[in-house]
Amino acid sequence: SASLVGSEMCIRDRGVAAADDTITVGFSQVGAESDWRTANSQSMKDTFSKENGYDLIFDDAQQKQENQITAIRNFIQQEVDYILLAPVTETGWDTVLQEAKDADIPVIIVDRMVDVSDDSLYTTWIGTDALCEGRKAAEWLNGFAEAKGIAASDIHIADIQGTIGSTAQIGRTKGLEEGVDKYGWDLVAQQTGEFTQAKGQEVMESMLKQYDNINVVYCENDNEAFGAIDALKAAGKTPGKDVTIISFDAIKAALKKVQSGEINAEFECNPLHGPRVAELAKKIMKGEKVDKIQYVDEQVFTKDNTTKEVINKRAY
Ligand code: AHR
Repeated sequence: SASLVGSEMCIRDRGVAAADDTITVGFSQVGAESDWRTANSQSMKDTFSKENGYDLIFDDAQQKQENQITAIRNFIQQEVDYILLAPVTETGWDTVLQEAKDADIPVIIVDRMVDVSDDSLYTTWIGTDALCEGRKAAEWLNGFAEAKGIAASDIHIADIQGTIGSTAQIGRTKGLEEGVDKYGWDLVAQQTGEFTQAKGQEVMESMLKQYDNINVVYCENDNEAFGAIDALKAAGKTPGKDVTIISFDAIKAALKKVQSGEINAEFECNPLHGPRVAELAKKIMKGEKVDKIQYVDEQVFTKDNTTKEVINKRAY
């Protein structure tokens, strides 16, 4: 295994003769709950490939934190060169990350954040600014309502939340709630759709049974939006017209729905982290200091800027 220089400039030498220069990486992935996640896993697998000089140990945690903790402990036992962690939720990582630190194995957090008492428990984090996405969505809704002359009291929102306690959910929910406080909209209902299409549909169906005034659905990812759209159509409503649809991720299939008018606004969350993470890891291995937090640039898509060209170029 390659010897490694961590961000604290400590050289890790396990005293094991390196058979070759292959870098062993353990990646604990959340699961396969969404198309975004599938694209993210693929990006990591393509980057950390044998051809590129890596031995990637990929572990799918099936949305369970306990599986992620077990995976990290296995990576430590296998003396990987570094650990990549896409955490399902923010809290509950102190103990296992301390174990990785004690073993001198750098940890790079990918996509969602961890909430730990000591931030030296991870080397760096790269991912999305979910609160910023949520705030952009709220500002978009305000502009949209103003342009259409809809009074704040006539905006009745259903929030289909992501996995409760995940960074993507916390930030997107907070961005919306800030908008509700600021503009005085009616937040009719909030319930998790767990970032999946099936649950998104189920939650939308049950909300439609309970409330007849919902005219905005704030879906905290695209798969939930696909499920919600199916439920709305089944209830005889026209998504994008009778009910304004806001969603996050901006995967190709969702951008097609922006173009066809079924989704009104998309707030991008870019999953292609593989090359970015590899670059960061290389710097860390060389002993270079890297920023603790790195946000990825993201765009907003509405019908105006979602051209065929944009959709065709979309890699995920
Ligand atoms: O953490 C990123 C979120 O997780 C994406 O928005 C969602 O699609 C995924 O499951």
